[in-house]
Amino acid sequence: MTANRASAFDAAMTRSQVNVEAALDALLPRADGPEARVFEAMRYAVLVGGKRFRPFLVCESAKLFGVHSASALRVAAAVECVHTYSLVHDDLPCMDDDDLRRGQPTVHHKYDEATAVLAGDALLTFAFEILADGGTHELSEVRLDLVRRLAEAAGARGMVGGQMIDLASEGQSLDIGAVTRLQRLKTGALIAFSSEAGAVLGRASDEALHALHAYAHNLGLAYQIADDLLDVEGEAAVIGKSPGKDEKAGKATFVSILGLERARDQARMLSDQAIQHLDLFDEKADLLREAARFVINRRN
Ligand code: IPE
Ligand code: IPE
Ligand code: MG
Ligand code: MG
Ligand code: MG
Repeated sequence: MTANRASAFDAAMTRSQVNVEAALDALLPRADGPEARVFEAMRYAVLVGGKRFRPFLVCESAKLFGVHSASALRVAAAVECVHTYSLVHDDLPCMDDDDLRRGQPTVHHKYDEATAVLAGDALLTFAFEILADGGTHELSEVRLDLVRRLAEAAGARGMVGGQMIDLASEGQSLDIGAVTRLQRLKTGALIAFSSEAGAVLGRASDEALHALHAYAHNLGLAYQIADDLLDVEGEAAVIGKSPGKDEKAGKATFVSILGLERARDQARMLSDQAIQHLDLFDEKADLLREAARFVINRRN
């Protein structure tokens, strides 16, 4: 039963990855002209791989409200561009200084640092170009709402703020409340945007939006705890990035504070709580329920 559920989820993730990658390939401009290098680097960063977990959340939340898949895929592509930009910049020497990402050389290794900065900038702005386009939703107020929400999730009150705390706390001992806030901003904000996007596109009730927000609140934290566990326990060939970097950099994580066992327990508890927040939805939310199990069992 459990195995069936998990394999149905894997199949759905693979289908969703294929669809979102086709959308990204079609949307991302082809390299051309004297500025071709930045287009090449953008396409490399995005199309080289990745789980496409945030796009999956967008598409599954959209299905709850009968949103047209073409709309959902555009929002999914936009959030993946923002997420990928965050990884390109996160890997720079001035941040985490990583040479492996998604199993391939990081953008600044494949190209150079200036190109990586510019490709990241261009991916971030391109995401808003996608959202603002009439193809994303026929109503301008819905497009505006998406733009505002993604800007907040990605900016200094969201992901960028979390990254600032992450870097500022290297070598410091944060308490659990401070690490929770760091992780909610750094990773939780974009995961929350992704989970809520379907409700925004579908003009769903506040009750549905709040339920998805609460789900994502727990899911995002569990996702980052799993990332921190994989940094300790994963192998480069499987996780597609170099392990052991958090301890070396003195990062404040759930694992550094709680230890492996309690961090795993915490992730399990958050996953269970995430699932409970979906109680008001019927079986259409089963893949979102399974997503909460996936985040704590994932191997990469
Ligand atoms: C890595 O994100 C960074 C975090 C915010 C945890 P993912 O684990 O989703 O990376 P990709 O997109 O699959 O490469
Ligand atoms: C980065 O967190 C989260 C972002 C917002 C990019 P990490 O620094 O832990 O991500 P990885 O482990 O490099 O993927
Ligand atoms: Mg980092
Ligand atoms: Mg990093
Ligand atoms: Mg990490």
